[in-house]
Amino acid sequence: MRLASLLAPFTLGSPRRRARLLAAFARAEHASMLDLRLAAAATPSPARQAAYLSHALDEERHARTFAAAARENGGSDPVLGDAEDLFARRGELGFLAFVHHGESRGRRQFAALATRAERLGDARLATTLTAIATDEAQHESYTGALLVELSGSEAGARKALRRARAWEAWRTFRRVGRAMAGVVWTVSMTLLYFALLPFVLLVLVARPARRGLVPR
Ligand SMILES: [Fe+2]
Ligand SMILES: [Fe+2]
Repeated sequence: MRLASLLAPFTLGSPRRRARLLAAFARAEHASMLDLRLAAAATPSPARQAAYLSHALDEERHARTFAAAARENGGSDPVLGDAEDLFARRGELGFLAFVHHGESRGRRQFAALATRAERLGDARLATTLTAIATDEAQHESYTGALLVELSGSEAGARKALRRARAWEAWRTFRRVGRAMAGVVWTVSMTLLYFALLPFVLLVLVARPARRGLVPR
């Protein structure tokens, strides 16, 4: 992924940044494992249930690997991720499209970071990232095949993917909006405070506050 390559010097540049990035990956992998387990419990197909459970085991391993790598770089134990229950919220086709899209992005991101880690002389991290990117490629492949099977055609799979991307963009927009709301509130209240200051001074000059009892 281009963006990951561009950001790699900033995200892998120091052990502290590395630890933060690896902890974020551990959280994402853990959240993905939880969603896959929920999907395995909800799908009506025993074959897909087995596929989701096997996939969940891989993501659990990835979460542990990234958490260990974060600790090796001086980070503390990463906070565990939360399930989003995408299966219940988006249906099985929507869930699969979302997972497929995420696997594809993960594969590209990990491969780009592996190249960068290699260049920075961290062969151990490069090997870890390459191995995980290989797993993500397999996840991308099987979810792609299931998408076609469940939607009934290549065109149906593409449509589900477009919807997943649009939904993800909307979700990101809302999350950023929520995060920004606090900042916007603080900035606007500070501006209002200083904008009202001349009027406060004017009132103080025109009607100075008196201490004690105010005579009638
Ligand atoms: Fe993974
Ligand atoms: Fe994966």
